[in-house]
Amino acid sequence: MAPEKTHRVFVGRRLPQEILNRLTEKFEVDLWDSDMPPDRESLIKHISKADGIFALLTDSIDKEVIDASPSLKIISNMAVGIDNIDIQAATYRGIPVGNTPGVLTETTADFAFSLLMASARRIVDADNYVRNGAWKTWGPSVLLGRDIFGATLGIIGYGAIGQAVAKRATGFNMNILYNKRNPIDPIEGITAAFAPVDQILAESDFVSLHVPLNEETRHLIGARELSLMKESATLINTARGPVVDQEALIQALESGKPGRAALDVTTVEPIDMNDRLLSLPNVIIAPHIASASVTTRLKMANMAVDNLIAGLSGERLINCANSKVYDT
Ligand code: DGY
Repeated sequence: MAPEKTHRVFVGRRLPQEILNRLTEKFEVDLWDSDMPPDRESLIKHISKADGIFALLTDSIDKEVIDASPSLKIISNMAVGIDNIDIQAATYRGIPVGNTPGVLTETTADFAFSLLMASARRIVDADNYVRNGAWKTWGPSVLLGRDIFGATLGIIGYGAIGQAVAKRATGFNMNILYNKRNPIDPIEGITAAFAPVDQILAESDFVSLHVPLNEETRHLIGARELSLMKESATLINTARGPVVDQEALIQALESGKPGRAALDVTTVEPIDMNDRLLSLPNVIIAPHIASASVTTRLKMANMAVDNLIAGLSGERLINCANSKVYDT
């Protein structure tokens, strides 16, 4: 006889079958069987009966949501970022919050570097140019971009993903500046110099953001910071939209300083189709897909399941974003 499933888990989105199978093997699964996230009312209703939640970064798990579930024992987020969760409220309730660090580092760095290259070499412009029938001849001044080799890359937020971007930049012979709370010991194979954020902004040809979103980093890049950047520079954001003051970015791009931006994230996601950002020719926008490779998304989902299984078996989460809950 199959063992009794003692825990109920709410899954806030349709998931690959192999992930669902792992969950249904262990838990009574309440699946939100849709490719769109649950609305707030449904989220609260479903979570109120759950012992665990498999959450996505589109699910706002704030205090009201957490408090709606007296039985909630674990929140497992299928993301490394946890800014969609009120960590303080979860910690107060003694609820561990799982996330998925590590497995998406290289994939996200690949994408940040892809944005850098796409912006530098105007790949999106070039594709549109061809499709729109503008390609009449080879021209000495057609679609001129910026060199990547020899350029200076400034990395703001030098954790695992920032370092993985630096590794790629090393292969392209770039000069690398980085900022982190404190300088770190040199990493083998990477030559990167610690610099204050203002210096990075002023000297870099490409600035790539890799900080988590929290109260310290919200609008880290605002009008003042953007005004320090070179006209020829590109701002790349694969972190979180609100790390950049988007209104200030629009104004800066309109005035051509910095000259370009390449974004995987925006303040509001999905971006409103009337957002002025979409009318600017000097920005590339992707729909938050930096970690979206087949392999990595599966690893992230499996890791979120591992966290749920550990948490609901009374074990320590494999990756816990609020390990403080284990202190008491
Ligand atoms: C994360 O994991 O935080 C990413 O933004 C989603 O890929």
